[in-house]
Amino acid sequence: MSDKVNGLPEDQAWQELKLPDLLNSDAVREIHATIEKEWDFLKRSACQTAAGRALWKHAIHDPLADLLAGETYLRNLHEKIKNDRLNNAREISGVILAVRTLWFDSRLEDALNSPTARAAQVVLLGAGMDTRAYRLSCLKDSDVYEVDFSGVLDVKTTILQAAADSAYDSQHIMSKAKSLTRVAADIRENDWMEKLETAGYIPQKSTVWILEGIIYYLTQSQAMQVLRILANKCVLAHTVLLADFMNKPSTTLSNSVFQFYSDWPDHLLPSLGFTNVKLSQIGDPDAHFGLLNDPLNLFNRLRSLPRSLQTNPDDGKPCCRLYLVEASGSPDQNVSHNGPNTQS
Ligand SMILES: C[S@@+](CC[C@H](N)C(=O)[O-])C[C@H]1O[C@@H](n2cnc3c(N)ncnc32)[C@H](O)[C@@H]1O
Repeated sequence: MSDKVNGLPEDQAWQELKLPDLLNSDAVREIHATIEKEWDFLKRSACQTAAGRALWKHAIHDPLADLLAGETYLRNLHEKIKNDRLNNAREISGVILAVRTLWFDSRLEDALNSPTARAAQVVLLGAGMDTRAYRLSCLKDSDVYEVDFSGVLDVKTTILQAAADSAYDSQHIMSKAKSLTRVAADIRENDWMEKLETAGYIPQKSTVWILEGIIYYLTQSQAMQVLRILANKCVLAHTVLLADFMNKPSTTLSNSVFQFYSDWPDHLLPSLGFTNVKLSQIGDPDAHFGLLNDPLNLFNRLRSLPRSLQTNPDDGKPCCRLYLVEASGSPDQNVSHNGPNTQS
């Protein structure tokens, strides 16, 4: 994090892409070839985010990320980073992913260190290639549940097993969590909570929910249904939600891949039953991590504009924002929420 401008190290290490030997083994190559041939964009997004963590390794310690991302996604993002650097871009590709990961890590750690959520269960919805269970020792007293499509979880388990069977550094493939359970489920369906409970999740126990890079892939009604289910848990036990939300202009970014948005998640979540909500924007003091020091980069310019603006008056471009939101609620704070569950 030595570069003061755009988050890349000053040395030239980022110029060369070094791949772990295991990525070249027949077994792992074959798995990644299948991903490219058979997975849709939803599942492939798991590898894209892992590539971000792998290439921002000077900021994020995720030694399994490159193996889980695969060569194609690593090369694609590496090429973009190189071009950004050569063009002196103010925003380097992947920086949002890096900041987002670090924000979720730090909020999770703080939550688990607080008396109300100590030893809480941790559930990752749309866990993808997330390796927090292997990276974060704050999970040592937590039962961790990773929820995703069965295809994603199977591939993840197979790659991690290949790493365990090889000479890969064994300390990286040992879970630091009290327990780790993978739960194959589609959170658009009605049965995902039942599947989670069957896997061991206890609704009456304090829980931290991690929704990182997932909620905007759902439709408005699917996302609202998931958020309502989580908010309803506040009446049973201390509940913490960590989630990132796109605002409306952001959903236009990628050929309608993104659907759900909320311009005011800090109003929406209390209307559902969460009592404490804190919203941060990329570049805020708690969502910065020394990676966004240029005052003129896109994120810092957006932060200086009112959130109600959908178009930037300086350049006429849409104000695409990613909100990082922490919300919580407890039975003792609970108030009745019979009001409308519509968006603010
Ligand atoms: C952008 S990735 C994020 C993965 C992980 N949270 C991270 O930050 O690295 C989105 C993940 O959500 C999963 N996902 C998307 N829709 C889902 C659904 N309806 N049910 C379960 N998982 C889903 C995808 O398979 C993918 O692994």
